[in-house]
Amino acid sequence: MRKILIAIDGYSACGKSTTAKKVAAIFGYQYIDSGAMYRAVTLFFLNHHISITNPKAITKALSEIHLSFHVNLHGQTEIFLNGANVEKKIRKMRISENVSPVSTIREVRQAMVTQQHKLGKDKGIVMDGRDIGTVVFPEAELKLFLTADIQVRAWRRQQELLEKGSLIDLDSIITNITERDRIDSSRKESPLLKADDALEIDTTHITIDEQVDEVVRLAVSRIMKK
Ligand code: DC
Repeated sequence: MRKILIAIDGYSACGKSTTAKKVAAIFGYQYIDSGAMYRAVTLFFLNHHISITNPKAITKALSEIHLSFHVNLHGQTEIFLNGANVEKKIRKMRISENVSPVSTIREVRQAMVTQQHKLGKDKGIVMDGRDIGTVVFPEAELKLFLTADIQVRAWRRQQELLEKGSLIDLDSIITNITERDRIDSSRKESPLLKADDALEIDTTHITIDEQVDEVVRLAVSRIMKK
């Protein structure tokens, strides 16, 4: 069976990663969370006090950052920063509050896109993010653009954080998501955009299982297409 590239873009907390993980598992594809890469870079910048207005420090820092993905015993993909598993650290609010400005930096984006191209060279991957269908893999056989109502997105993110042991009030989450969407959509470098040939799915009123079924159906039709 031929392998394809599946690109899933959309606003923060629309269920991109949950959908992408499940779809990847069904097809035996690798799941790549490109947002995790920007989050890991942000963690490094914060830990090493790298100013995002200092191009020299940014270039040096990027040369010292090595990112890799590994599948854990439960079959979940986790990101490693210079050999250390940072999957839990990068989901904290401290990172969510700083990641969008870091991801506007051209040098950061270039470094991440270079790595993403390498990860996708043999196809058979599901990658989610903001610029996957537009910039990283404009040739992807299936491109999706997810949207959902802000209240629903915030509530889902709150549940996710709760499962990881953090109780964050809904208003703080709404403020963070709204601000990230604003920065991600209005930045100069690869802003969040729906690719012309991406299919839009509004996930407000559908369950994760319905979302996954729809994406699987679309992926099968692309795989069978000559
Ligand atoms: O998917 P996420 O919420 O974990 O992503 C974190 C941030 O990273 C998001 O606010 C914007 C940035 N990002 C990006 O600019 N390009 C991507 N392909 C993925 C994420």
